[in-house]
Amino acid sequence: MRRAVCPGSYDPPTNGHLDILERAAGLFDEVTVAVLINKNKKGLFTVEERLSLLQESMAHLTNVRFDSWHGLLVDYCRQNDIQAIVKGLRAVSDFDYELQMAQMNQQLTGVETLFMPTKPENSFLSSSLVKEVATYGGDVRHLLSATVHTHLMDRLARDK
Ligand code: PNS
Repeated sequence: MRRAVCPGSYDPPTNGHLDILERAAGLFDEVTVAVLINKNKKGLFTVEERLSLLQESMAHLTNVRFDSWHGLLVDYCRQNDIQAIVKGLRAVSDFDYELQMAQMNQQLTGVETLFMPTKPENSFLSSSLVKEVATYGGDVRHLLSATVHTHLMDRLARDK
């Protein structure tokens, strides 16, 4: 079975993430969406909330599973018999750091990283920008799934 992982913070997942996940699910037998836990980064959503937002947004895909992980991504891949990491690339600015990580991961365990260009309409999209725009009242409805948008608005209202 060909397995891939799409790792990330997903705080919250955007339409850019969902597009990459959907396209990866079309290429592999099984795709795991892994929320990587970074103890140094305080998120807007908890890891459990992010997983449930992803699950709700991707319910139509049957070969996608959801998980979280604290530690090296290569260890997660090894433990779960995952051969490839799929990453979305938005612009050249993403490339330097992503290349470094891909090469490091390849060197550590031989796991391969595949870069998938985002759709042009998502090339400016990031979770942090969406949060910032929404915090100051900008309309981000078209950048998120309906469920993520609802939860984001509720969370920002609660934290005001
Ligand atoms: O959505 P993000 O924050 O850009 O995702 C970055 C992430 C979580 C994919 C990356 O930081 C990562 O792979 N972290 C896991 C820890 C790890 O393996 N670090 C070494 C990378 S070479």
